[in-house]
Amino acid sequence: MDKKSRSVFEKQLQQMTQSGLKKETHVMQSPQAGYIDIGGRKVLNLCASNYLGLANHPDIVKAAISGLYERGYGVASVRSICGTQDVHQDLENRISAFFETDETLLYSSCFEANTGLFEPLLGEEDVVLYDTMNHASIIDGVRLCKAKAYRYRHNDMSDLECLLKASSENMLRLIATNGVFSMDGDMAHLAEICDLAEQYEAMVMVDDSHATGIMGDQGRGSLSHCGVMGRIDLVTSTLGKTMGGATGGLTSGRKVLIDLLRQGSRPYLFSNALPPVIVAAAIKAFELVEAADDLRARLRENTFFFREGLERMGFMVKRGTHPIIPILFTEPQQAQQMSQALFEAGIYAAAISPPVVPEGGERIRIQISALHTKAALEWALQQFEAIGRLLELIA
Ligand SMILES: Cc1ncc(COP(=O)(O)O)c(C=O)c1O
Repeated sequence: MDKKSRSVFEKQLQQMTQSGLKKETHVMQSPQAGYIDIGGRKVLNLCASNYLGLANHPDIVKAAISGLYERGYGVASVRSICGTQDVHQDLENRISAFFETDETLLYSSCFEANTGLFEPLLGEEDVVLYDTMNHASIIDGVRLCKAKAYRYRHNDMSDLECLLKASSENMLRLIATNGVFSMDGDMAHLAEICDLAEQYEAMVMVDDSHATGIMGDQGRGSLSHCGVMGRIDLVTSTLGKTMGGATGGLTSGRKVLIDLLRQGSRPYLFSNALPPVIVAAAIKAFELVEAADDLRARLRENTFFFREGLERMGFMVKRGTHPIIPILFTEPQQAQQMSQALFEAGIYAAAISPPVVPEGGERIRIQISALHTKAALEWALQQFEAIGRLLELIA
């Protein structure tokens, strides 16, 4: 490596360290769970997207093992050449039934589903209208396509309407939004978005990664929660959160759109098929999730309890009902300080810093799980209170 390049990159890393914003990796020596082992210690885990606690569910592990034995470890091919097994189609059909859509395509991740969605469907004459707070993968997907891209202010329906009016001369329009926004846990106004889309003849795409499995009827996500199933043209989601927490993504929706994506979506065409072990486990995850009203009820109770406790103590918590609970701070370093102090006390609650959130948006993003017991959450609240006082974050 030449000297100049090395010194540029080293300086960037030094600046991150000095500003206290450098992300450190905590290595786990245990499976994903409510308590995890990190550095030889057992800590309460408050930052996994393991909302229903299925990441290590015995039935899912068993299904994964059967998948491994029955269809092998890898397929050594992309889906369109010789990487499609019957189980891939079984899972796609299962997902279409779950979202009440025509068809579904699997991807290696939701990141890939999103980056592969826009380019095959939209050309230079077309327009994407997207929420400022959308996930990075939607933003990257939009960058990769030739359509004009206009951002509307977060959840601002009048801004969206202005952009729809202003772009009426364009050919096709697609509104792209998260169902639940990853860093704040707030929800898109899907019913209003659908009304606007129908009024101004636009399509709608929703990334429902943080709602699939935990919101709506039988966990069908924010489309079900907002009563807009059947009105959304494309939904993307991940298998890497509630649905077993491993890896994998999907795009589901109208047949004509999925048919086109199957022909032209680059991550689908140029990246390997999901391994059968994941596919078999995901089929089981959908079965478990549909029947998991008890876990969803526990998740809601846990979330309410923890949110209410933090708000009562005076932490700056973004309001909402989702198990994502963001705690904001007045100084950027405070999130790291609080996170470190919590870790020493036996709680893993990671600090989130730029570029994952914008400058000034540093936070601790708590994620509650149905696995957490009331006693564990009560104890955690006591630690938050003691540390918050010590660091003079609360009175
Ligand atoms: C809204 C949203 N979309 C997409 C992704 C990416 O999902 P995956 O891990 O399957 O790539 C995430 C994960 O952080 C997310 O929060």
